[in-house]
Amino acid sequence: MNYSELAPAYIRAIAPYQPGKPISELERELGITGIVKLASNENPLGCSPRAVAAMHQAIKTIALYPDGNGFELKDALYRRYGVAHAGIVLGNGSNDMLELAARAFLTVGDKAVYSAHAFAVYPLATQAVGGVGVSVPAIGFGHDLKAMLRAAIEHKAKLVFIANPNNPTGTFLSAADLLEFMRALPPQILVVLDEAYNEYLPEENRYDSVSWLKEFPNLIISRTFSKAYGLAGLRVGYAFANAQVADMINRVRQPFNVNSVAQAAAVAALQDEAFVRQTHELNQRGMKHIVAGFAKLGLEHIPSYGNFVSFKIRDAGRVYRRLLELGVIVRPIASYDMPDYLRVSIGLESENENFLSALQQILGEKQ
Ligand SMILES: Cc1ncc(COP(=O)(O)O)c(C=O)c1O
Repeated sequence: MNYSELAPAYIRAIAPYQPGKPISELERELGITGIVKLASNENPLGCSPRAVAAMHQAIKTIALYPDGNGFELKDALYRRYGVAHAGIVLGNGSNDMLELAARAFLTVGDKAVYSAHAFAVYPLATQAVGGVGVSVPAIGFGHDLKAMLRAAIEHKAKLVFIANPNNPTGTFLSAADLLEFMRALPPQILVVLDEAYNEYLPEENRYDSVSWLKEFPNLIISRTFSKAYGLAGLRVGYAFANAQVADMINRVRQPFNVNSVAQAAAVAALQDEAFVRQTHELNQRGMKHIVAGFAKLGLEHIPSYGNFVSFKIRDAGRVYRRLLELGVIVRPIASYDMPDYLRVSIGLESENENFLSALQQILGEKQ
């Protein structure tokens, strides 16, 4: 008997998410050490020492279930952003927020709109509940909001996913463009605005999406502690939304989806603004370094507003494998319909340098 046939056709059709290769796996495969991983948009500085201290403290009560309502973390978010507890949902990473939004609002046959080359979890979350994804062609690898608006209306979509900045392209949508989109969208269509990389935006591109929640009860803002806060391994994210929307999402959430160590660390991390500033500055410098390196090597890249950048390269699959052999893990993005590109996360200065010199070596090799 083929047990996969017991799953609904829409589950069998899911193409599994391909995560970045873990360092330990490459170490086992090649028997080398000193590997540089620039494949998962992680924070090369680690996390705030205050978060580490909070984790140590929280471990002492690990025998107890976490606070299923996440009071302390919601309160910290309230103090920081002014969103009442009823408008906050906590997630096991922001990935959880994306899935929970789909689970709460989509059923078999419902449509969700997203952009081509947008974050892979949008189609996955949609398909997992039997929803139908509508992928809208991009402009210059970025979201075409006008076309997405038309598609959402035409297909009577229930949900639109927007990543700003987007992963893996790093493209950015201005506040003015987003507002124009929101104002034109029928209010019964929900929008998940995924701001996983929000903290990396340059000063001049910052915008206050939280203030838009008053005007748009159909807006869900999703954020994470995995990126600029450096807590990817803990899995904690959150969403802001209208209280009725948040209530529906909370109903499909596991009661204890965010563990107690993660909750404590996130509260502490949120308070360490200096750490996030340091992360931001390191990223700005690293981005300049890597982009200048691409220019020197004659490589095209897509200007990025995140902590990663995608670049065009001949034989991307071969270059990816050669980089692995040289101890540098980047991310192939053929599954994003970008077979001629690789994505590299911005690391420490020495890691960026390792990556650029490995790339230079590969480009100099005879094939
Ligand atoms: C655009 C975007 N959204 C959401 C996520 C999910 O991250 P996490 O679940 O760690 O918060 C990622 C992770 O790479 C991402 O790139």
